[in-house]
Amino acid sequence: MSTHSAAAQPKITVPALKTRKRADGAPAIVCLTAYSKPMAQLLDPYVDLILVGDSVGMVLYGFETTLPVTLDMMIAHGAAVKRGTQRALVVVDMPFATYQKSPEEAFTNAARIMIETGCSAVKIEGGTEMAETVRFLSQRGIPVLAHIGLMPQSLATSGGYRAHGKTTQESATLLESARTLEKAGAFAIVLEGMIEPLAAQITRELSIPTIGIGASPTCDGQILVTDDMIGLFQDFTPKFVEKFANVGAQISEAAANYAKAIHEGAFPEDKHCFGVEKTKTLDTSKEPISQKA
Ligand code: KIV
Repeated sequence: MSTHSAAAQPKITVPALKTRKRADGAPAIVCLTAYSKPMAQLLDPYVDLILVGDSVGMVLYGFETTLPVTLDMMIAHGAAVKRGTQRALVVVDMPFATYQKSPEEAFTNAARIMIETGCSAVKIEGGTEMAETVRFLSQRGIPVLAHIGLMPQSLATSGGYRAHGKTTQESATLLESARTLEKAGAFAIVLEGMIEPLAAQITRELSIPTIGIGASPTCDGQILVTDDMIGLFQDFTPKFVEKFANVGAQISEAAANYAKAIHEGAFPEDKHCFGVEKTKTLDTSKEPISQKA
């Protein structure tokens, strides 16, 4: 039974979230992904931020990477999640090739996401090279959640799934990216798949919150892909995932029990049927009613 009611709690806004630094005594920011209205409804009372991640492509559609995810897909899932959310801040990922070309194109696509989903912000991947775009969007009314470190849209150039910041040069570049993105106006920054001391240093240095995923417990918030966290996504479990439930096993068990009940004639029962006449037994030798003259 739910002990929280989302409606009773104040809505999370971008300005409120922007000041949530744990070093100042603020509570940690709790974030999860969702791609559908029912999942958003279940998460909303417990989380501060719901990310409609482009991980939807791998988790729901079975793509090998996030690259085939389109703007229309993100808008459809973003709108569904928004319909299921009362309190949490809804942020929608901008998919690959919808924001990298120019700040102007990024604005056109981000505006479509904001208008058609009703979300509060967009997330874009990239370091210093995306600072101009972050500035362009945030100065024109589109709050941006930045994302550095392991960036699933750049796996082809960054060398696959690996921890970032292991060399002095890479650490320095990531630290500089974080500083630049904050100056450009990002309201928070996701730190994914980077060595812990670097994530801790970025968290100490920035005045905007950091949201870690495979980063550091000292980050101002944490995010996981919900399907990983509930044990539903079976393909691959990264080192940084903790399973807080085993919903995948429960679904398999439910399907097995359902099949068994049908084979044994235990389902459906009279209570699941309409117009059951208790005194009559079914005479299957007669023609179906619909075929009678
Ligand atoms: O797409 C996504 O779900 C993400 C999170 C893992 C941060 O970007």
